[in-house]
Amino acid sequence: MVIAHRGASGYLPEHTLAAKALAHGMGADFLEQDVVATRDGQLVVFHDLYLDQLTDVATRFPARARADGLHYCLDFTLAELRLLRVTERRRKGSNTARFPGRFPAGTGTFGIHTFEEELDLIRGLNRSTGRTAGVYAEIKEPGWHASQGVHPGDRMIEILHSFGYRTPENGFYIQCFSNDELRRVRARFGAELPLIQLLDLGAPTSRQDLTNIASYAQGIGAATALLLADRSIVRTAQQLGLLVHAFTFRADELPAGFATFDELLVTFVESLGIDGLFTDFPDLV
Ligand code: G3P
Ligand code: CA
Repeated sequence: MVIAHRGASGYLPEHTLAAKALAHGMGADFLEQDVVATRDGQLVVFHDLYLDQLTDVATRFPARARADGLHYCLDFTLAELRLLRVTERRRKGSNTARFPGRFPAGTGTFGIHTFEEELDLIRGLNRSTGRTAGVYAEIKEPGWHASQGVHPGDRMIEILHSFGYRTPENGFYIQCFSNDELRRVRARFGAELPLIQLLDLGAPTSRQDLTNIASYAQGIGAATALLLADRSIVRTAQQLGLLVHAFTFRADELPAGFATFDELLVTFVESLGIDGLFTDFPDLV
């Protein structure tokens, strides 16, 4: 299962509608959304809590940074966010492109869009192409949002329901790094939500840990480094009935020890036997 990580982000600035349309056209099975809240209670598709590495916010709204020097999505209304120009990702605190070979930084006319607008795009493309791509939405930093008095997870699920995404058969997943948040939405919204527990390098993954995850989630989304550090995780998780999806596969940034993208894919898909993967390059996968 090929999940387009922030869209076809190897080719176009991440989480733009253009990157999502390209990923759909490349045949991705699922399109990923990272979702954060705005000041006026909207949800936008954006990876970072702050806008600085991906937009011109610092020049357009120079007086709106917090004490740490960053401009947070949550401090801007949707109307204000729509004024920003999205560009290829820069390294934090610099003007250098994070991935120098990708779409030219500082060029293009891309903007920020809402979660509903992305679901509209996917629904439209599913209809016009006759090929269904699913939705794979991440509740971003629920603990931080809660500390600011907002709960984007609830709104996300209400929107998903309004678009007809209710059960796994509807072709969607909800992912989060916070087990508390996944348990919370499971309790609040019911047993049918397809939930994925994200696990970064260093996350606890004993058989007992995975058994606990299997009590509230359908699968894990694990960092490639975690699955390489303990190659038994995939099989153990699958024995417990969990799907195993891995992130993030980038042809222009290979993990240590891999000479080619194909070698990386063969290791994870054929040797380890994962069920799906997040990639910036859905066409190559
Ligand atoms: O959601 C899977 C993967 O995307 C997690 O990492 O930081 O790209 O959201 P991140
Ligand atoms: Ca994500």
